[in-house]
Amino acid sequence: MLQGRTTISKFLIEQLRGADDQADLAALLVDVTAAVKAIASMTAKGALGGYLGSLGTENVQGETQKKLDVLSNNAVIQACEWGGLVAGMASEEMEEPYVLPRQFERGAFLLVFDPLDGSSNIDVNVSVGTIFSVLRHSKIGDPSVTDYLRPGIEQVAAGYAIYGPSTMMVITVGKGTHGFTLDREIGNFILTHPDLKIPEDTTEFAINASNERFWEPPVQRYVAECKAGKTGDRGCDFNTRWIASMVADVHRILMRGGIFMYPKDAKDPGKPWRLRLMYEANPIALIVEQAGGAASTGRARILEVTPAALHQRVPVMLGSKNEIERLDRYHREYDNGDDKPFASPLFKDRSLYGGENRA
Ligand code: AHG
Ligand code: MN
Ligand code: MN
Repeated sequence: MLQGRTTISKFLIEQLRGADDQADLAALLVDVTAAVKAIASMTAKGALGGYLGSLGTENVQGETQKKLDVLSNNAVIQACEWGGLVAGMASEEMEEPYVLPRQFERGAFLLVFDPLDGSSNIDVNVSVGTIFSVLRHSKIGDPSVTDYLRPGIEQVAAGYAIYGPSTMMVITVGKGTHGFTLDREIGNFILTHPDLKIPEDTTEFAINASNERFWEPPVQRYVAECKAGKTGDRGCDFNTRWIASMVADVHRILMRGGIFMYPKDAKDPGKPWRLRLMYEANPIALIVEQAGGAASTGRARILEVTPAALHQRVPVMLGSKNEIERLDRYHREYDNGDDKPFASPLFKDRSLYGGENRA
């Protein structure tokens, strides 16, 4: 049945042929696929598996942990700790990096991951995912926290799995972005979406609109213009989608274009950003850039942000290039004070959007 089909291990071995540690990187990514298969099996069982619901504990970010957050975290650790390929691992669900048990050989890579992205969606049977990022560890000895704090540009591989109607993995090792679909009967990921490309233009955007009044003016401007559609400055109608699982929103963007935003907001002044740099924004940014898209904080390329802490958060805007460039421009114009009032009647003084937002 495998004839003519490319399995993920064959694909990775071929893409990473060459120096020794490239073969190790391929082997590490294959270990990650083993964890993904275990998580796919748990998520697919749903209520029948007894895995749903919360644990009554909180992670380092103060978020309630779902049973599956912790089970998925353990699945990744178990699949990747034994092979002599990683020097350490860090995850959304662990305050400090995971130190490998003494019996296991140390490898050349650091694995940073979000074991279950969108886990608030798990109890309602909506797609969730796993996001991972691989960095190099060139020092001898167990890594300290600071060894993990490398900008995303230094990632040697990144990817995500999406547990949807089908389970897929999307991976980059810096040579394009490629998608694989899990064939459950043979238990292997098969290359189904080689060389994914995000169209440069789009009329679809994703954002949690309930935060609108807390966004910064450049994001309010962008969204207001999209919503004004044909009658506004943009001169065309836009469509919105919001799944609240970043992997699922990003996957749609890889399949048909669009942009995803989780910008700064002033809802909780102690938490101006939602998404974490090292295991959400960075790996997704690399995947998106490798597919021809762009990923920005609005003021900087995400991949160039140097992390100051393992669980640091950042504003995220990514997807179709021309729209992300427009958002960057709106931020620049706002910061420079040359953000002209809109021509749209929505922005006249006595309108809904007048006054406070334009101050
Ligand atoms: P996680 O489940 O790993 O904490 O991440 C969820 C993230 C992301 O997937 C999604 O886009 C965003 O949180 C949704 O957050 P809100 O529902 O709070 O807007
Ligand atoms: Mn997440
Ligand atoms: Mn998570």
